[in-house]
Amino acid sequence: MRIDVITIFPDYLNPLREALLGKAIERERISVGVHDLRDWTHDVHRAVDDSPYGGGPGMVMKPDVWGEALDEVGAAQEATPRLIVPTPAGRPFDQKTAVRWSQDPWLIFACGRYEGIDQRVIDDAATRMPVDEVSIGDYVLVGGEVAALTMIEAVVRLLPGVLGNPLSAEQDSFSDGLLEGPCYTRPEVWRDRPVPDVLRSGNHAAIARWRRDQALERTYHRRPELLSALPEGDLDKADRKQ
Ligand code: ADE
Repeated sequence: MRIDVITIFPDYLNPLREALLGKAIERERISVGVHDLRDWTHDVHRAVDDSPYGGGPGMVMKPDVWGEALDEVGAAQEATPRLIVPTPAGRPFDQKTAVRWSQDPWLIFACGRYEGIDQRVIDDAATRMPVDEVSIGDYVLVGGEVAALTMIEAVVRLLPGVLGNPLSAEQDSFSDGLLEGPCYTRPEVWRDRPVPDVLRSGNHAAIARWRRDQALERTYHRRPELLSALPEGDLDKADRKQ
């Protein structure tokens, strides 16, 4: 997969080179380009923003600069990219979205700052490529960079050969619509707290049942709306007793 990020703060994306993402680059599962939006300005001030039509506070990112940046970055490969615009006004990003994007050959993230990017940039790009305006949560960040990093990490860990154990991605929280329950490792007793007996029983069916019950209970307490969203057939008889 190819990933490009356009931003006025390229250094903000340095964590892309670390840990799991860095390994994915080293192993050539992904290639990443981070581009400074100001490279497409033509004035001495390298201005990327201007005051909003209609008045109001804040500044809006200029269409001419973004337009040229997207034309150039979007022409660098053969495939058609998906353009992703992080914005608090977007559709919610979730695991399903991450899975869908992980099938794409090429993602371009357009990170806005200030009040946002002139809407015509997004409308114009949408005539040539799929465009998703997405939010990572109901709070406002100062720009799209951290949101882009979040989404890139969620997508890249789903690519084949990126996680050491592919079962980790399959058994994630959300993969069955529930939150994952608690997990434990050695020592067997720590600060007088023992690991639950069942996990040391060797009884695989009992362990699976216990884990499922823990997931149901945790989801019920922390995210009840996820339980109501489960298709009826997803709950078995033992689940219903919970
Ligand atoms: N930019 C600012 N806030 C954001 C959010 N919550 N999600 C995505 N991009 C953003």
